[in-house]
Amino acid sequence: MIKSIAQVSPSVHFIGAFDPRIRTFDIIMKTANGSSYNSYLVRGSEGVCVMDTVKKEFSADFFKRLELLCEYDEIRYIVLHHLEPDHSGALEELMTRAPQAKLIISGRAVMMLKGIIKTDVPFEVANTGKVISLGDKTIEFLSTPFLHWPDTMSSYLHEEKLLFSGDVFGSHYYDERLFDDEVGDFSYAFKYYYDHIMRPFKQYVLQALELYGKFDIKLIAPLHGPVLRTNPQFYIDKYAAWSSEAKFRKHTFGNKMLSVFYMSSYENTHKMAQKVTEGADSVEGIVASMYDLASLDENNMVDLLEESDAVVIGSPTINGDAVKPAWDLLACMAYLESGGKVGASFGSYGWTGEAPEMLHDRMRWLKFRLPVKPLKVKLIPTEEELQACFDFGIDIAEITMGKMVEMEI
Ligand SMILES: Cc1cc2nc3c(=O)[nH]c(=O)nc-3n(C[C@H](O)[C@H](O)[C@H](O)COP(=O)(O)O)c2cc1C
Ligand SMILES: [Fe+2]
Ligand SMILES: [Fe+2]
Repeated sequence: MIKSIAQVSPSVHFIGAFDPRIRTFDIIMKTANGSSYNSYLVRGSEGVCVMDTVKKEFSADFFKRLELLCEYDEIRYIVLHHLEPDHSGALEELMTRAPQAKLIISGRAVMMLKGIIKTDVPFEVANTGKVISLGDKTIEFLSTPFLHWPDTMSSYLHEEKLLFSGDVFGSHYYDERLFDDEVGDFSYAFKYYYDHIMRPFKQYVLQALELYGKFDIKLIAPLHGPVLRTNPQFYIDKYAAWSSEAKFRKHTFGNKMLSVFYMSSYENTHKMAQKVTEGADSVEGIVASMYDLASLDENNMVDLLEESDAVVIGSPTINGDAVKPAWDLLACMAYLESGGKVGASFGSYGWTGEAPEMLHDRMRWLKFRLPVKPLKVKLIPTEEELQACFDFGIDIAEITMGKMVEMEI
């Protein structure tokens, strides 16, 4: 039952759907407060534009809201800022009901469209600078790719200084009061969404913010959670700060960070880790530190990985595998830009010793630079083997400092 239709600005209404019951989103996110699939209708003197749709199961609410505001034959444009199913779920049905409407997507969305709707539909591509007119309303498109899919874009409604930002500035936070000054405290959801969805794409966030900076923004209408109308700059500043944080810390301290993550049951891999760390730390310009994976929280893993220029992982071989916390550590790379970090692995073993190689392989897929072979020691390391660990640390550190010719292994 649709009670009322929220008016976002003079010509824009909310026609999305609320999902109070969802508790996990996209597998990787917990949604304690549910979420919303925001969609908007813009009315101009010469027709209507629909901004995004909703998740398929929520189509009925979307169409009900839309029908309260316009006739299908008034729709001139359907804009999909992002083709993920939570926003494209009702697209096919909408295009059937409004066959005259022109679909507008980004250039990078073209290849995805066929994977989303299986029939051929006509569309038009929008890159930065493309403008459409609804008579007295003008919508300009901005290419803001990889936030968080390659296809994503944003748009700006000039007359109302309103930014349709796509998933950018979104929150998984269900609250039908809709506006940031009326809903409950969604600050944790806003940060959580950034950390899990936007953080791996910080460079693209900064590029998008630069583009947004050319416009006077009075209102931000994202694809999830509250519409931001009190002080949009506050949210823009948050994204800017979070996206430049790591660089800021590095500039402050100057040194490169090398982190040795390890786990050990009988101290063997631990002893190796100590020597690797000492060796690495002896190289000028490197600050090396070691962390016992047995007691490292996931949030700290993500932060440490992000700050590290080199990531060295030590694991004993247990039942033919590396230990689970080592895999959990690498799984955290999903939240980060991985390319370019130096990686290496080592560990003590009893008879087969495959753990370091397995970690090395996984790091290759994650696009680490892997200049040295994994280092393995059978059971308790000898003095010579500990010296080899020290030298291993030096090698990785020197390569991280750019002092040696790098070889891909
Ligand atoms: C439950 C268990 C399973 C193990 N499985 C293997 C194995 O599959 N392959 C192997 O090379 N060593 C295996 N080992 C031997 C350990 O890798 C070896 O004891 C190693 O030195 C432990 O290093 P740590 O003291 O750093 O934990 C196993 C040890 C335990 C306790
Ligand atoms: Fe998305
Ligand atoms: Fe989304």
